[in-house]
Amino acid sequence: MPGTVITGAQWGDEGKGRFTDYLAERSDLVVRYQGGHNAGHTIVVDGTTFKLQLVPSGILYEHVTPVIGNGVVVDPIVLLKELDLLASQGLNTSRLRVSGNAHVIMPYHQEIDRLTERYLGKNKLGTTKRGIGPCYADKALRVGIRMQDLLDEKILRAKLETVLREKNLVLAKVYNRPGYDIEELMQTYLALVPRLEPMLDDTVHLVHKALDDGKEVLFEGAQATFLDLDHGTYPYVTSSNPIAGGACPGAGIGPRALTRIIGVAKAYVTRVGAGPFPTELPLEEGDVAYAPGTSDEIISRDMEIGNFLVDRGREFGTNTGRRRRPGWLDCVMLKHAVRLNTCTEIALCKLDVLGGLDEVKICVAYETPDGKRIDHVPYHQSAFHEVKPVYETLTGWDKDIEDTANFSDLPANAKAFINRVEAIVGVPVTFASTGPARDHTVVMPRS
Ligand code: GDP
Ligand code: IMO
Ligand code: MG
Repeated sequence: MPGTVITGAQWGDEGKGRFTDYLAERSDLVVRYQGGHNAGHTIVVDGTTFKLQLVPSGILYEHVTPVIGNGVVVDPIVLLKELDLLASQGLNTSRLRVSGNAHVIMPYHQEIDRLTERYLGKNKLGTTKRGIGPCYADKALRVGIRMQDLLDEKILRAKLETVLREKNLVLAKVYNRPGYDIEELMQTYLALVPRLEPMLDDTVHLVHKALDDGKEVLFEGAQATFLDLDHGTYPYVTSSNPIAGGACPGAGIGPRALTRIIGVAKAYVTRVGAGPFPTELPLEEGDVAYAPGTSDEIISRDMEIGNFLVDRGREFGTNTGRRRRPGWLDCVMLKHAVRLNTCTEIALCKLDVLGGLDEVKICVAYETPDGKRIDHVPYHQSAFHEVKPVYETLTGWDKDIEDTANFSDLPANAKAFINRVEAIVGVPVTFASTGPARDHTVVMPRS
């Protein structure tokens, strides 16, 4: 039985967690394949909110085996805290399997993440400061510590000795900061082993066994296409490959194991952290560079809508609390995401948030500074910084579509919005959502 991938089609926080949870009901394994606790996936079930960072969104179902794949970077302290929190919310977390090959985020990774951001000053990336980039960098440099290394005191000591020699020098000489004591680190991490060891597994074998046995395997991406290290808006990206293809190295499968690829998009766009954003709407004066001569009326209307999206969509980071930058739906980017991921379909989230606006805009092309209209994402970053969105304006729909879980009950203009998105990006919208809860999921009639 081939697998399904759920991946973010924008800049993150599209609602991957809620759609993963929805599809997990019919899945046997839910496998995270990249990222770490920079992710925040929110799921609302029967009035209870679950906020997941590392644990796959399949954890909420007793019949699902949640798997943290080899491509994930794991802070074991955060993982255990998250499991404790979920247990306190009444969940059985004992089924979680964690790859022995997943790399460990150590305290020095988090410290270096914080320090490099500070060092970059106004050029900072706005990372989540969770140590993600430095941990993946050490993996690539081949000086990383893997989960399995924690199980062998001798190996752990040898690896830490090598890596700390360099880290402590950098911390002292470049950043004028104290280094890390190997004995303290050994003590802290070895103390976690009794709880971690029973979770560690050969997750590649687990995934293949499930696929061979005809089970449903769902691969859950974190972050998103335009935060992808290779295909995102570099350097304003994360340090892994969230695109669907990332499930191959991140979980140990080949492309033939995947048939269904769901790109999750919001009905508008948000972004946290720095980087270009063509359809961005200002929250405050100066947030967005307008063409000279743009009227105050347009700027203030845009600001009103930007603030409306943040307030109505509650656009604040799930675990960092940072306010997200809002903007209109960018179908040029979405079409590009469909290509990069070979999406078979789109899940369109947060339709309810647009409810009540008289007009809803969709970006269908870009205009370059020399007045040319293009309908693709320019490969050159400077060009992408300079494009202006070309909008198509659609009529809005009634405010109250929260709780509408049937396509036929959606207002005609909301249906027209969905149909227009499908026509532009070239694949069907198979799910939409009209509220944060599990039962606010609209399954489109043909799926
Ligand atoms: P993820 O990182 O892609 O899993 O998304 P997040 O969980 O970080 O962000 C999505 C936010 O939108 C969460 O707070 C969800 O509870 C909320 N949400 C999800 N679907 C909907 C929806 O259809 N309508 C509304 N109003 N909120 C939603
Ligand atoms: P989910 O899975 C939104 C952003 C950060 C920053 C950039 C690099 O909830 O969609 P990092 O800490 O990864 O080195 O930060 O990536 N970022 C996210 N933005 N949602 C996420 O995850 C994100 N994970 C990282 O804000 O701009
Ligand atoms: Mg999120």
